[in-house]
Amino acid sequence: MADRVAIVTGASAGIGEAAGVALVKAGWKVVFAARRGDQLDRIVAGCGKDQALAVVANVSRPESVQNLFAKTLEKFGRLDLLFNNAGMGAPPVPMDELPYEKWKEVVDVNLNGMFLCAQAAYRQFKRQHPQGGRIINNGSISAHAPRPFSVAYTSTKHAITGLTRCIALDGRAHDICGSQIDIGNAATPMTERMLKGMPQAHGGTLVEPRMDVQHVADAVVYMAGLPKESNVLNITVMATKMPFVGRG
Ligand SMILES: NC(=O)c1ccc[n+]([C@@H]2O[C@H](COP(=O)([O-])OP(=O)(O)OC[C@H]3O[C@@H](n4cnc5c(N)ncnc54)[C@H](OP(=O)(O)O)[C@@H]3O)[C@@H](O)[C@H]2O)c1
Repeated sequence: MADRVAIVTGASAGIGEAAGVALVKAGWKVVFAARRGDQLDRIVAGCGKDQALAVVANVSRPESVQNLFAKTLEKFGRLDLLFNNAGMGAPPVPMDELPYEKWKEVVDVNLNGMFLCAQAAYRQFKRQHPQGGRIINNGSISAHAPRPFSVAYTSTKHAITGLTRCIALDGRAHDICGSQIDIGNAATPMTERMLKGMPQAHGGTLVEPRMDVQHVADAVVYMAGLPKESNVLNITVMATKMPFVGRG
């Protein structure tokens, strides 16, 4: 395990932080990337500087992604895993009221950002020896079914399914695995608003159950640890009683 190297984006909080720390505990060298350097420094200090590196990065900026991968190679020499996790939502408003700027911001992070990071990882996996690696994209239950008033988030998360499958198909020739984790209601800063009530399809609101984010981190460690001959193409990890499976 000593020489397996991962980049986790969106690692300053929530799922990215939990998954990054869990990977370190499982023996991975982990690069924690996000925009808030103070948060990253705090997390990396708890992991040890031989095991972890903090890199301030904005995934929606090509030059920032380039810098993230350059810093990773400089410190650890290769890359085995990208957990493509950084993401954001938009305020829940009817689509006719969503400002175009907000739409573009969500697309820039959730889709363009994940593409830029996946492309940089794919390039590195192809060129290194031994060749190959794994990209785990963070989709969502919203990659399958929308919440009311979520056109930007839902559109980007559906698109991530296409990105995952293209990686899984094109990557075969180079020992590159493409995986997707679709999460429902993990307790993170992003889902705090669920405690107050979420808009539902029937027009009302519902306080929704959440689950411990550690269950997501454990799933990521399992997916990451598979040999390159095996791949979890899709996994759904969700709060058991959240409204999804029963059409509400
Ligand atoms: N929590 C859930 O139940 C759930 C369900 C389905 C899908 N997801 C997905 O899981 C991922 C993480 O969600 P979360 O719940 O952990 O959210 P969160 O607590 O809000 O954390 C989001 C992370 O993304 C980072 N980030 C946002 N924009 C970024 C950018 N432009 N460049 C780099 N990093 C950026 C944030 O760090 P900085 O602000 O420091 O940049 C933060 O570390 C997202 O893709 C989300 O869609 C979550």
